[in-house]
Amino acid sequence: MANSNFTALGMAVPEKIVPNQYFESFIDTNDEWIVSRTGIRARRHAGPEEYTSHLCVRAARDLAERSGTDLSDVDMIIVATTSPDHPMPGMACMVQYRMEMPRAGAFDIYAACAGFTYGIVIAKGLIAAGTHRKVLVIGGETLSKITDFTDRTSCVLFGDGAGAVLLEAAAPGEKGGVGMCITGAFGEGGTDLYMSGLSPKIYDHPIVCNQKIIQNGKKVFKWAVNTVTREVPRLLELNNLQLADIDWFIPHSANMRIIEAICKELDFPMEKTLQSLSEFGNTSSASIPLALHIGLRDGRVKKGDKALFFGFGGGLTYAGAVLEIGF
Ligand code: UT7
Repeated sequence: MANSNFTALGMAVPEKIVPNQYFESFIDTNDEWIVSRTGIRARRHAGPEEYTSHLCVRAARDLAERSGTDLSDVDMIIVATTSPDHPMPGMACMVQYRMEMPRAGAFDIYAACAGFTYGIVIAKGLIAAGTHRKVLVIGGETLSKITDFTDRTSCVLFGDGAGAVLLEAAAPGEKGGVGMCITGAFGEGGTDLYMSGLSPKIYDHPIVCNQKIIQNGKKVFKWAVNTVTREVPRLLELNNLQLADIDWFIPHSANMRIIEAICKELDFPMEKTLQSLSEFGNTSSASIPLALHIGLRDGRVKKGDKALFFGFGGGLTYAGAVLEIGF
């Protein structure tokens, strides 16, 4: 069984910075409420001609340029997204074409804000199976295109961006930097965070078919805190690690109060968490790689550091992974 190393990271965000004050002109909100209730100070919004595939391609290119990695021999591309340009072709296929990766298989996954971490789990599995050696995992979103700008409880939250990471097969006998992972779901909570599609119902629950994200924030908040605090110790146990062994805890950036509540519950120092909320808002599947990018950019994260990723969101879904930074 081949182990995996985590060897490169890239990112992309749209140019347009949207500060909290932007919302004050058309909904009843203010900067103070948004900062104190969420931790968000700004987010990026894609331009009218800019879609998720563009951000995913830019993130892949950024990864290749920063790391000097040749992506032509990547053998699988996995894109996690909730806001694809279209359901078909998938975003991963568009990356495969635009980035000229002739050998790569390509598919998208829909596990909302946990999607990126689910992607890592799948990539590790493909490499362990011995069928793939180099897997590109991208979390990319243009949530601004599926945001209901009349709903003040959600429109201030979401932002656009993409993050890409590379997992590569470790040498035979080498331990590898990607540890054990976990995944889980709470399907019953699917009606607490959703977007309409073909069916007018989720289970028996009638939905508003406006193609925008609808969220019961309070319920998702509580579920997220309970789930992450319950599952992180399980993930650590699987990896034979203690919380003190983790250099960087990187939960999905949904709300600073969620991160604070988890850290309080787990007795983990907030200074050892990374988040992309303040700068980029809630970018769903892109939030974890963007947070890691910020940690690397400002020099806090170093090669060899141990990071614990934990995604959670629509579905409801969750996934956790422990990785050593290999670059
Ligand atoms: O990424 C996927 C997973 N998603 C999450 O994890 C999201 C989890 N949930 C949350 O982050 C929070 O629940 C929200 C940020 C969505 C909302 O924060 P909250 O502290 O739960 O606020 P709330 O919904 O309980 O609302 C408190 C008050 C309400 O007013 P009343 O009823 O007390 O008069 C809201 O109407 O805040 C009001 N409010 C706002 N006020 C100013 C809600 N949104 C706003 C706003 N500006 N933008």
